[in-house]
Formats: sequence, structure tokens, C-alpha cells
Amino acid sequence: MIDRERLERRMTELARIGGQDTAVSRLGLSADEQRARDLVGAWLSKRGAHVRRDAAANLFARFGGEGKVILVGSHLDSVPEGGRFDGALGVLCAIEAVESLVDAHVRLRRPVEVVAWADEEGARFGVGLFGSAAMFGRLASSIGDRRDRDGVSIAEALRALGERGDPAAARRDPAELAAYLELHIEQGPRLERAGLPLGVVSDIVGIYHARVTIRGRADHAGATVMTARADALAAASEIVLAVERIARARPDSVGTVGEIAVRPGAKNVVPGESLFSLDLRAARDHDGLVREVLTSVTTIAGSRGVEASVDELARVPVTSLDPKIREVLRHATRSVGVDAPELVSGAGHDAQNPALSGVPTGMIFVRSTGGSHTPREFASVDDAALGAQALANAIRELAS
Ligand code: GLV
Ligand code: MN
Ligand code: MN
Repeated sequence: MIDRERLERRMTELARIGGQDTAVSRLGLSADEQRARDLVGAWLSKRGAHVRRDAAANLFARFGGEGKVILVGSHLDSVPEGGRFDGALGVLCAIEAVESLVDAHVRLRRPVEVVAWADEEGARFGVGLFGSAAMFGRLASSIGDRRDRDGVSIAEALRALGERGDPAAARRDPAELAAYLELHIEQGPRLERAGLPLGVVSDIVGIYHARVTIRGRADHAGATVMTARADALAAASEIVLAVERIARARPDSVGTVGEIAVRPGAKNVVPGESLFSLDLRAARDHDGLVREVLTSVTTIAGSRGVEASVDELARVPVTSLDPKIREVLRHATRSVGVDAPELVSGAGHDAQNPALSGVPTGMIFVRSTGGSHTPREFASVDDAALGAQALANAIRELAS
């Protein structure tokens, strides 16, 4: 049985790390993320798990002995000024699910490992799904050199956390795993609208992340006539609107420019350079969406006499989750009295990396309100406890 009070107490305790009121800023590969790992690691080692960290700062806590592993977890980092539930709830419910099986002296035929992935959001270095990509060998080889805004590289950030600075060393053979399970808040309104506490994820959208640099020409804002300018921000603005237009016109597609910077950045200087992010997602024809946006970047830059360069950070294809694990999860949710609908996830998840590496993978969604990636994000303890119970039932079915 799930210990609802224990789950609630831990939700509150974890939310204090990097938290203020209902907001949490616990960036990936930061000291706060490390404190969160230390906290959950201590809970798990007290329950007899073998706890270790890998070269990408992922935390693993293993219960049981030999054989293929059931891996279950989520991430502990957040976006800046995010909420208390995105990622954290999946780690807390994985811990609670496994502890409930330990409490009940359930004999597990397979080892079960709880994982807390490092830096899922990629808020600081721009590389999302970092820890899980490292474990499944899906990181670009030069990734350790990528720097944050202060010039600190990923390798340096890992060294500051006590690692060697070589995330590729986190790689593990996917054949070691029998299954990967992740519980996560839905981050959208579908379960709330349906009046249902739980869902089962069928597919996760394809995601493309890039940083675009537009190089125009800085000039005097008073002395440069409008026809003689190469305004980098005006070009970037036209691209932002093109992203919106293209994504609106395509089925099941979204496109966002969430960060933008201008250099030199003064009211009386025509912008010489502009840097912005691209986040392009689609449940179908993701490649077509990316192609159309990149073509428009080139066309708009050409027509405005500026240069555009695109630094691709990540491209994760549309990911279908395993039909057999989905059935196990549907059965597990039915066993807690919920007829869980299958949902496509518009958010990216660490589950994509095991799924794309051939590991049978499934996800449970817990109803959430108030959106996500904001302090308004919310899931009730009752729904979380129900999700944790369904997760425990699924682990039991897969591991015993
Ligand atoms: C992660 O939350 C993402 O989908 O960006
Ligand atoms: Mn998120
Ligand atoms: Mn998340």
C-alpha cells in the first residue's frame, strides 16, 4: 500500500530545494539539483538500496540482485521559475512505489532500480534529456564542451559536482534493462477535462532544439536610413512570426521562440546580431516541420541581407511507447479503479531515450492543473498516490 503521508511529506521536503512559495528553480547540473539527488539518495539507501551516481550525474538506487533490471524514475531538475511537480513527482512516486513493495515484503524476481535523471530540461546548457541521453549513448561527442551563458562548460559543471567531466562514460548497455517506466504529470488539460486522474502515454512528440544566430550590421539608429540597414532583430522578428505561422498551418505541430538576445543592445543602435532559440515539435511529420522552418530562416535572412547560422542542439524523433508495456500500465491503472485513456505527450521525456534504444518503455500521466513550466503547475496528493499505486502494481507485474 502507498503511504500517502510519506509521499506528501517528501513532496514538501523536496520542493524546498530551489523552491520559493510554489515556484521551483532547480536547474540541471546545479548545486541544487545535487542537493535534491543527495536527499532522495539518502531516503533510498536507508531502505537498503545500493545507491550510486554515474558520470552524467544520474542517480540510481538498486533493489534486488542479478538479472535484467526494471528501471523506474524521472528527473529532479526544473526550468527557471518552474513548478514543484514536473519531473520531481515521477521520482517521488517511483520511490514510493518501490518502498511500498519493500514494505509489503514482495519478492522481486528482477532487480528494480529507481533513477533520478540529471538535467532533463536543458535550461542551462540547452541540451535537454541530458542524463538519459548519456546513459543510452545518444549524446553528441563534443557535448562536454557546450557552455552556459557564464562560459562554464558541461564538463566543468560535472567536475564541480565531483564527476570526471566525461558524460559519455555514463553509457550502459540497453540490454541490461527489461523495462523502463516513468510517471509524470500530464502538463496539459486533457485528464482534467475528462475528469480522470490517470492516463497512459501512447507516443511522445518529435522535438527539435536549436540556437539561431542572425548577423546583420550595427549602425547609428538616427543616421542610417531605413533602406540601408541590415537589422538583425527585425530579421529575427520576421522569423519568429514565420515559426508561428508554419506551426499553426501544420497538423499537431507547435513552434516556440522562448529566448532571444540582441547585440549590442542599445536603444540608439541598429541591432547587429540577434540570437534566439527554436523549439519545434510535432506528433506527425516532425521532419517536415523542421525543414519548412529552416527553409524560412534561410529565405528571410537572404531577403533581408543578413546571415543566419543554425546550431542544432537536439533532434529527437516522434517516439511510440511499447504496446505491451502500455497494456501492463492500462491493467495497472484499471487495478486502481481508473479506465485510463491513451494520450500523446506534447512534452519531451527521458522515456524517449530508452524507447529509442529498444527498451520496452511506458509512461503513466497524472492529472495536473495550472499548465506546466510555471509555479501554477499542480497535482493533488490523492492523484499522485493513485499513480504511485498503479506504478507499484505495474512494477510488481513486471518484476515478480
Ligand atoms: C520538457 O519539459 C520539455 O518538453 O521541454
Ligand atoms: Mn519540463
Ligand atoms: Mn519533465
